[in-house]
Amino acid sequence: MDKLVIQGGAPLRGAIAVSGSKNAALPILMASILAEEPITYTNVPRLRDIFTTNKLLAILGCPAEFDGHTVTVTPCDLKPEAPYDLVKTMRASVLCLGPLLARLGEARVALPGGCAIGARPVDLHLTALEKMGATFDLDSGYIQGHCKKLRGAHIHFDFPTVGGTENLLMAATLAEGETVLENVAREPEVVDLANFLIACGAKIEGHGSSIIKVQGVSRLGGCEYRIMPDRIEAGTFMVAAGITGGDLLLTDCPFEELEAVIAKLRDMGLVIEREGARDVRVTHNGHLRARDVTTRPFPGFPTDMQAQIMALMTIASGAGVVEETIFENRFMHVPELVRMGADVKLSGHTAVVRGVQRLIGAPVMASDLRASASLVLAGLAAQGETHVQRIYHLDRGYERIEEKLNAVGARITRMPE
Ligand code: EPZ
Repeated sequence: MDKLVIQGGAPLRGAIAVSGSKNAALPILMASILAEEPITYTNVPRLRDIFTTNKLLAILGCPAEFDGHTVTVTPCDLKPEAPYDLVKTMRASVLCLGPLLARLGEARVALPGGCAIGARPVDLHLTALEKMGATFDLDSGYIQGHCKKLRGAHIHFDFPTVGGTENLLMAATLAEGETVLENVAREPEVVDLANFLIACGAKIEGHGSSIIKVQGVSRLGGCEYRIMPDRIEAGTFMVAAGITGGDLLLTDCPFEELEAVIAKLRDMGLVIEREGARDVRVTHNGHLRARDVTTRPFPGFPTDMQAQIMALMTIASGAGVVEETIFENRFMHVPELVRMGADVKLSGHTAVVRGVQRLIGAPVMASDLRASASLVLAGLAAQGETHVQRIYHLDRGYERIEEKLNAVGARITRMPE
């Protein structure tokens, strides 16, 4: 396993290109199962989870060629089974369930295990698909699903689940009749998926709002589609500028999709300005102030930025309360930040962060994707050397992160643990 060795204290200055969005690319690649013609995807990030998805697509009968940042998928004779040894490495594999039922009327998907941040059940996906006529059995750790033909239904989600919305949106595109999905996720990645499906011939309206309507069609064709830029990677780099007292220009950077994050970072003292159509400049006015943060479904503050903004708060003046409302165990970065001298007190779903003068570099352990990012950010600001171990978590969601950061003045080396 690899680790990152970070010499802290250097302000980051220069330009960083934001890569394509992991959380848009995963469902959009999975949606190729629905299409009957080849699809070309551009701006696809070269990440572990994308390679895993391409492997799964090949097993399901949709061979995927990855060339640079372009993926070409050619749907062939579909197979219904997503094997455990792949699904256990990537929960998002469950997103093949809806497309397989829609195309084949059959799906056998290993029940995705939990992960460090929580149990991550898929009950909302299954209940909703049952309303469309699917039946499910749990057979030795696999979800075995069947349906004659999915039929349109009126579905109200108990919680605006991102994955559940994506699975049902994909399933509904080929169902008989109209499907109304209520209390759906409004995340930009859901909107990107809907735009992709429409480009393939799907009939969808309301994406981005809480109610999506889908008219089922008989088939979906191919298309060429550019994946949206990654708002969470962009938000992570905004924090990198703030935590190092630097000045970064983020190119191909989302803005509207990051409103809640930008508002909070500005409130903490960062200066964030658009430059041209697609670039954003981030500096800070010399004084960081801690603020309270509560994670919420979009358009609220995203849970995927909670660990990163907490790292920033550890060296801001004053105290801030961080409340995590989406996942039950998403504070794994806290004990590691405390090892670096941070003052963070946990109580259930809430963390109280009191700013300290400075962090001190230390050996720390990554536990999940965004916790790893938080530790890298803390290492960039800390005095001395930080060793972030088990960075395979980081490689799932950040493309060449040490190359991108070293190009703007960071001092990071990747080496075996
Ligand atoms: C997606 O996960 C993202 N992953 C996550 O990003 C993100 O944190 C999450 O949405 C919330 O924004 C991808 O898009 C691949 P959910 P997902 O279904 O779809 C509970 C990252 O760091 N729930 O909205 O799994 C669930 O347990 C990753 O990039 C049920 O109870 O999120 C969780 O507590 C981490 N039953 C909450 O809802 C269900 O059937 C949110 O889950 C489904 C979800």
